[in-house]
Amino acid sequence: MKKLIIRTETSDDYAIVENLTREAFWNVYRPGCVEHYVLHCLRSLPEFIPQLSLVAEAEGLILGHIMYSRASITCDDGSCLPIVIFGPLSVAPEHQRRGIGSALVRHSLALAKSLGCGAVAITGSSAYYGRFGFIPSQSKGIFYDGLPRSEPTPFFMVKELTVGYLAGVTGTYADPPGYFVRDEDVDAFDARFPLKEKLKLPGQLA
Ligand SMILES: CC(C)(COP(=O)(O)OP(=O)(O)OC[C@H]1O[C@@H](n2cnc3c(N)ncnc32)[C@H](O)[C@@H]1OP(=O)(O)O)[C@@H](O)C(=O)NCCC(=O)NCCS
Repeated sequence: MKKLIIRTETSDDYAIVENLTREAFWNVYRPGCVEHYVLHCLRSLPEFIPQLSLVAEAEGLILGHIMYSRASITCDDGSCLPIVIFGPLSVAPEHQRRGIGSALVRHSLALAKSLGCGAVAITGSSAYYGRFGFIPSQSKGIFYDGLPRSEPTPFFMVKELTVGYLAGVTGTYADPPGYFVRDEDVDAFDARFPLKEKLKLPGQLA
């Protein structure tokens, strides 16, 4: 692969990145996918962090994308601790397993740290995100909203960017409202893209 460049996404990239996200997620976690619409909606929210919406490009082609949003932990003492979250994270299917996703995660984490973000939370595969230093959030006293605190939630992970940022904190994290979309809105948005077949496949979550 030619030299990979990671740069800030611009509004000129939006349509390409939405299509890339759709290609990356299609039929992976459910028949079809919602992530291209989630991404589309998140960009309009105040939580969206444009400086941390990054594309990975080689020879002028966008092969991957990551975006971050502001979020918070509702602490048991009644205070609110700002953190950031990322996702969707997408790599074009034909370019996966070549280090592009890892490059986007590592680059964006360093950039987030330089921007002063104290901690990052992610829901996803511990096998994948563990390699970047994410640890189960429960070990830091951060729990996933709506689930019993005693229930293991290995899919919900956190990483401090400022050492000690989560020290002494106990609280709950809830996905921001922008992560929840209505199926009918997804279908209406999806109709703007080339037709793709939705398939029910083994291993999907929904
Ligand atoms: C997940 C994704 C971003 C990884 O990007 P990538 O460029 O393919 O990943 P990298 O080349 O940096 O890393 C490859 C490694 O990640 C692992 N990996 C990739 N996707 C994974 C997943 N969903 N769960 C666990 N491990 C995964 C591979 O098995 C490989 O492991 P190895 O190094 O031990 O062989 C990409 O596969 C993708 O776009 N997937 C579809 C959308 C998605 O699931 N996004 C993340 C949602 S949380």
